Amino acid sequence: MSRILMIYYSLEGNTEFAAQTAAEYAEIDLERLIPAKEPPKKGFRKFMWGGSSVVFGETPALDPLKYSADDYEHIIVGFPVWASSFPPAINTYIKEHPFTGKKVDIIACSASGSCEKAVNKLKEKLPGNEFGKVLSLQDPAGDKEKSAGLIKQFIADIV
Ligand SMILES: Cc1cc2nc3c(=O)[nH]c(=O)nc-3n(C[C@H](O)[C@H](O)[C@H](O)COP(=O)(O)O)c2cc1C
Repeated sequence: MSRILMIYYSLEGNTEFAAQTAAEYAEIDLERLIPAKEPPKKGFRKFMWGGSSVVFGETPALDPLKYSADDYEHIIVGFPVWASSFPPAINTYIKEHPFTGKKVDIIACSASGSCEKAVNKLKEKLPGNEFGKVLSLQDPAGDKEKSAGLIKQFIADIV
């Protein structure tokens, strides 16, 4: 078991790329959250479906987890920004598996490169934890070389 658990959701592969890359630079156990039902991956419908699921505070059922946050002192939460917030799969995790007393770092992926609102909303939902660094990535799978450099530096800073 590693010292760090990364809990993350990815619809289109950007946060997945960030998680896999992070795990190349440190021993990190990767917990990818998979909702039983996913929005369409292409087209405008994904924004409608995904956006409304955030607005309505949905908590979709998740496939079984591999790890327990209880076993870790250090957690990285990774997510794509959805409607200036975090996606419903993260909402489900926080509701069903709340944790406190952890060191928490955040990797947020977005199309705009702006994640402040979403990060603040996440922090509000995770009281009682000590927040460290935030890595904001703009669609990192679009420029893997550049993103890998940013992720490497982030991991070096937090471990
Ligand atoms: C439903 C939905 C809502 C989104 N809302 C935002 C947003 O508010 N701001 C933004 O910068 N990007 C937004 N995006 C873009 C994603 O955050 C961005 O492309 C991210 O890198 C995708 O990560 P993923 O590939 O891990 O799913 C949204 C994407 C989807 C599907």
